Amino acid sequence: MTKKVELKDISNLCKRRGFIFQDSEIYGGIGSVWDYGPLGVELKKNVKDEWWKRMVYERNDTEGLDAAILMNPETWKASGHVASFADLLVDCKGCKKRFRTDKLEGDKCPECGGELTEPRSFNLMFKTQVGSVEGKTEDVYLRPETAQGIFVNFNNILNTTRRKLPFGVAQTGKAFRNEITTGNFTFRSREFEQMEMEFFVKPGEDEKWYEYWLKERMDWYFSLGIRKENLRLREHAKDELAHYAKRCHDIEFMFPMGWSELEGIANRTDYDLKKHSEISGEHLVYFDSATNERYTPYVIEPSGGIDRAVLAFLTDAYRTETVRDRERVYLALDYRLSPIKVAVLPLLKKKPEIVEMCHKIREGFKGRYRVVYDDTASIGRLYRRQDEIGTPFCVTVMWIRWKTVKQL
Ligand code: GAP
Repeated sequence: MTKKVELKDISNLCKRRGFIFQDSEIYGGIGSVWDYGPLGVELKKNVKDEWWKRMVYERNDTEGLDAAILMNPETWKASGHVASFADLLVDCKGCKKRFRTDKLEGDKCPECGGELTEPRSFNLMFKTQVGSVEGKTEDVYLRPETAQGIFVNFNNILNTTRRKLPFGVAQTGKAFRNEITTGNFTFRSREFEQMEMEFFVKPGEDEKWYEYWLKERMDWYFSLGIRKENLRLREHAKDELAHYAKRCHDIEFMFPMGWSELEGIANRTDYDLKKHSEISGEHLVYFDSATNERYTPYVIEPSGGIDRAVLAFLTDAYRTETVRDRERVYLALDYRLSPIKVAVLPLLKKKPEIVEMCHKIREGFKGRYRVVYDDTASIGRLYRRQDEIGTPFCVTVMWIRWKTVKQL
């Protein structure tokens, strides 16, 4: 029977087995920034590949994009991020700690009981500079969402692909937010990855597509093994909606710290395309040849966090069992997500024939799957090591004398 999973169980496993490490750990790390180790990079890549397969390869109404992280800063004025992508913060006058007002209960510091400052608005975007001449640099931002790269490329994509509505543009990539409330392992990171689809539809058909994407995105998580009881939809109340959204649902997962957002699905209306048209002067509109109309499409946006998806898949798959009074951990991961697909394990590493056969088997999988050979422990322990990281197939090579076979 699996006991309730704590976040520290997951983070310990990640560190112990090389899924996720604290970034620049030898210098004491940096808050809420993480590195994916040899197993983590495979798991994360598999999550991205499965998303891309479902969102692009298995459909005929979408295209892909890989836009840059740095963008002309006008982008963020048009999108509303310069003006309103901010948290209201207070500082403690005693211990100097900083808190988000929406996370506080009462008017005293939750750490030391000290007096708090008046709330101030704190923009979450990271600023940097471009330019090679000292004193002639321009402030730019590290993108806080990948979505805007899709909106500003709307005409480029439309003109080069000749798509008709409805169609979507999928993109995965890094995003950055100077988060104030951190903690909970990778759940709220300052550097993270998103998997976003902007699905452009005819105004009036937005509600229908909105419902479609709610179901489609829930199904994707279920299809990769997330248990029904660990996933739910929660609609945003009116006062919770982002400045661009007409409606929004969160797909919430039962993380060890409780129900929390895994993915957001929003009806962004025509807000972004209209704002970019207004500020850039370039008309981001669609010509409907069937009706001879020109209009701005509406957008349905399923926007997921890859790091949160990795954390959710690990949490859902984490199981324990007791074998001969000893507790052991195993990951019941869907084979498509498993970092290593096959482990080839010799029963006896001192027998050259066995070792040779193991290497031949491993070579046979080369180029198709991530396969490992391991002979650094007894066979029981080798199996347990693979169970702990969710390897679906183990091949053991053994040596049986012909005489023994005849006796069987
Ligand atoms: N384009 C819409 C958008 O960015 P969001 O709800 O702010 O919407 C989408 O972010 C998803 O990105 C979230 O559902 C979450 O999975 C992920 N995400 C957001 N902030 C994050 C953070 N600080 N660390 C890890 N993932 C984050």
